[in-house]
Amino acid sequence: MRTDTPVTIYRKDYRPYPYAIPQVALEFDLDPDTTTVRCTMQVERHADAAADAVMQLDGEALELVSLRVDGQAWPDAQYSVGAHALTLSGLPARAEIEIVSRCHPAANSTLMGLYVSGDSFFTQCEAEGFRRITWFADRPDVMSRYRVTLRAPAAYPLLLSNGNLIATRQLPDGRGEAEWEDPFPKPCYLFALVAGRLTHRETRVNTASGREVLLQVYSDPGSENRTQWALDSLVRALRWDETRFGLELDLDRFMVVAVRDFNMGAMENKGLNIFNAAYVLADADTATDANYEGIESVIGHEYFHNWTGNRVTCRDWFQLSLKEGLTVFRDQEFSADMMARDLDPAAAASARAVKRIDDVATLRAAQFPEDAGPMAHPIRPDSYQEIGNFYTATVYEKGSEVIRMQHTLLGEEGFRAGMDEYFRRHDGQAVTCDDFVAAMESVYVKQHPGRNLEVFRNWYRQAGTPRVAVTLDYDAAAQRCTVTLAQQCQPVGVERRADNPAKQPFHIPFALGLLDRQGKPIALRVDGREQETALLELTTARQQWVFEGVPSAPVPSLLRGFSAPIIVEYGWSDADLALLSAHDTDPFARWEAGQELATRQILALARLHQSGQTLRADGAFIDAWRALLTDPALDAAYRARTLALPSEKTLAERMAQIDPPALAAARDFLRAELGRQLQAEWRAAFDGNQTPGEYSPAPGPAGRRALKNQALAHLMAAGIDGAQGLAQQQYASAGNMTDSMAALSALLNYGTGEAPAQALAAFYERWKHDPLVVDKWFTLQATARSATVQTVRALMQHPAFTLRNPNRARALVFQFCLNNARGMHHADGTGYAYWTEQVIALDALNPEVAARLARALDNWSRFVPALRQPMQQALQAVSAHPGLSRNVLEITSKALEFAAQS
Ligand code: TRP
Ligand code: ZN
Repeated sequence: MRTDTPVTIYRKDYRPYPYAIPQVALEFDLDPDTTTVRCTMQVERHADAAADAVMQLDGEALELVSLRVDGQAWPDAQYSVGAHALTLSGLPARAEIEIVSRCHPAANSTLMGLYVSGDSFFTQCEAEGFRRITWFADRPDVMSRYRVTLRAPAAYPLLLSNGNLIATRQLPDGRGEAEWEDPFPKPCYLFALVAGRLTHRETRVNTASGREVLLQVYSDPGSENRTQWALDSLVRALRWDETRFGLELDLDRFMVVAVRDFNMGAMENKGLNIFNAAYVLADADTATDANYEGIESVIGHEYFHNWTGNRVTCRDWFQLSLKEGLTVFRDQEFSADMMARDLDPAAAASARAVKRIDDVATLRAAQFPEDAGPMAHPIRPDSYQEIGNFYTATVYEKGSEVIRMQHTLLGEEGFRAGMDEYFRRHDGQAVTCDDFVAAMESVYVKQHPGRNLEVFRNWYRQAGTPRVAVTLDYDAAAQRCTVTLAQQCQPVGVERRADNPAKQPFHIPFALGLLDRQGKPIALRVDGREQETALLELTTARQQWVFEGVPSAPVPSLLRGFSAPIIVEYGWSDADLALLSAHDTDPFARWEAGQELATRQILALARLHQSGQTLRADGAFIDAWRALLTDPALDAAYRARTLALPSEKTLAERMAQIDPPALAAARDFLRAELGRQLQAEWRAAFDGNQTPGEYSPAPGPAGRRALKNQALAHLMAAGIDGAQGLAQQQYASAGNMTDSMAALSALLNYGTGEAPAQALAAFYERWKHDPLVVDKWFTLQATARSATVQTVRALMQHPAFTLRNPNRARALVFQFCLNNARGMHHADGTGYAYWTEQVIALDALNPEVAARLARALDNWSRFVPALRQPMQQALQAVSAHPGLSRNVLEITSKALEFAAQS
């Protein structure tokens, strides 16, 4: 018997809630074992609701103490309590409902609702965690003003909640009390409280309109010297939203709190953001360049939610991308602007391209596979079983691409006008993705008379990554180039059910340039103006564009800046790609050309490996890489991206049958070959990009470290004489965590003799008191080339390992199952048996996190035949496990049902 029967919720079934709940008073008597919550709500039946409408309140893992309506105990016959709801009937049109309930924070390992981490209390309510705190209408379209009273023993001196602090007092019984009031109506998923003994850092700044606001970052005692970067990032985010979007902070006080046990990255609770400590704490000794960048971007993301998510929120959870896609777009732009600040135009363009490349690489590695697999869904899904499973790369990253395309179609000014219109129409409301597009469309139709965004809306309705086939016809006599674009997108995931309607074309902004055979840009006449890039708007299955005055047969530079989340099909020759990789003036397309060359090279090597032949790297490819490595015009950060080989996940998408060992062997071989054949150049890059002196996480020095450490990895991979000495020396003398980890990683993956084990042991000894660094230590080992199920199992026996802390579980178990294809997809099937055990063990503690691990086998049906059957069996074993959560069951049952055709 299952504890939960799967129920599918459909977007088309949306109905407004029959009652408004304008006011909520919450009183907490906090105690780790049993906390008592008194929730008093003012409710008003909506004018158009039936007089006998029942009031259904969601609740989970709660005990009812008492229920009163307008001060009177409510008769037994007029309510019922089930495992998931409290249902009241016979209510008057207006009433005050008071519910007293109990919950158990210390025993709450799900980290949803109210829980204990370390010696403090925290909450996580999105998406449906509030129902673990009290019975309530736990849906985003019910918005209320909250007044919160917190009472806790003296061991919890700090008592925080949303909004403004009204009063604090000492109670006669020795406990403390604090009262908070949030002036803004909000859905309950934005409620938060924190209680404990924490330290903090703060600053005061004036907003654009001159109001003074208090910004605070709270963290564990002893970590106060690691919160400066987070606080500085918060100030930058506040300024950026003012200047780029004209949006001001609306509260007098804005708090960020770091917690060690957290299911995801961070949460935008109104005025009281709660963060995974990994996205707050940083100093040079313990945080990498990537950590610094991640903190700035997540601090920005949560801060930006204050307008895109909180002031304007979602009508229902199908609209999740309304806030997430838009807020990811905003955080990406924030990071790009921060990286490009204070640079001359050429350097700024390169810096922005680096950010774009990183974002697109993430999209391709995480979202493209999702969009081709059993969990494929439109950015606005039509159905779900468990909403926690839809905080996906599609909703977030593809959602951001869909916003970016609107930005591209409207231009910066037009997009800003659309945003202004969105807030003018919907401030204070819970709305839909359609409402957002309608606001943008109101600007678009003025810019483009006779056109609209109707076809564009298909991005919200349909899943899958469209493929656009490009043909070029050049007429030398007429000096005319005709470009044809043809799109198609096969049904994926639930779309493959027989009753699904045929798919419609997408509105695809397609940026294109043409180069001549010397690599010089050809001017394109568009609307009477000469441009280097033309923005084509493909809105039907197939369209043509004619360019006149093209003097010679061109090489096309396609999808510049990655202007749409699609796959381009064009038959470039390798020579075309080498030309683009050396000369394209669009830095994104230039990177892309090199990636395509490398992809072809690795796939060819993988085929050689599969047929047991000797691997040999193509000389022209090595030459292209040499040209990039030695091009003095490229800055280090950009160069590091151009020289990085495509990720295994991206490469797997290009294989008819995914063969991880063959891919790994091919990629390894090429890396070693590049190291060997370009050793002098790598050595020069290693020596020429040292960053002595005081550590700075700024893009300049971070880019130099990226290139230098890439050089070190290549020298080590090739087994070059002296390389191990360089790595050991760097490890011994590193002045920052980026260099320290890069050296350790190189030693671990390619080192020989005692050095790797010694460095690993030294690292642990030095950092064993620091959980975020211990996570890194586990990750390095989980992703090492030598890692196997046996070594990972042994690491699980280490005293520092626990499945209860999500960061620790992710550092070891997830990293192995999701990011170490070679170890995981071993032909003996032991990886799958390990995965089965871990999904089941984690599910008993934390279903949200377990469901993410469950996704490791999503694309089982696309692997080589020998791996398919053991993967399918593992999925069946998990699905059949008694008492499985509906979170995990949705993932495994969809993986089995909607397996892609291979
Ligand atoms: N809304 C959060 C964000 O994107 C993410 C989030 C959703 C979350 N559900 C969560 C975080 C559960 C932690 C736990 O910023
Ligand atoms: Zn978000």
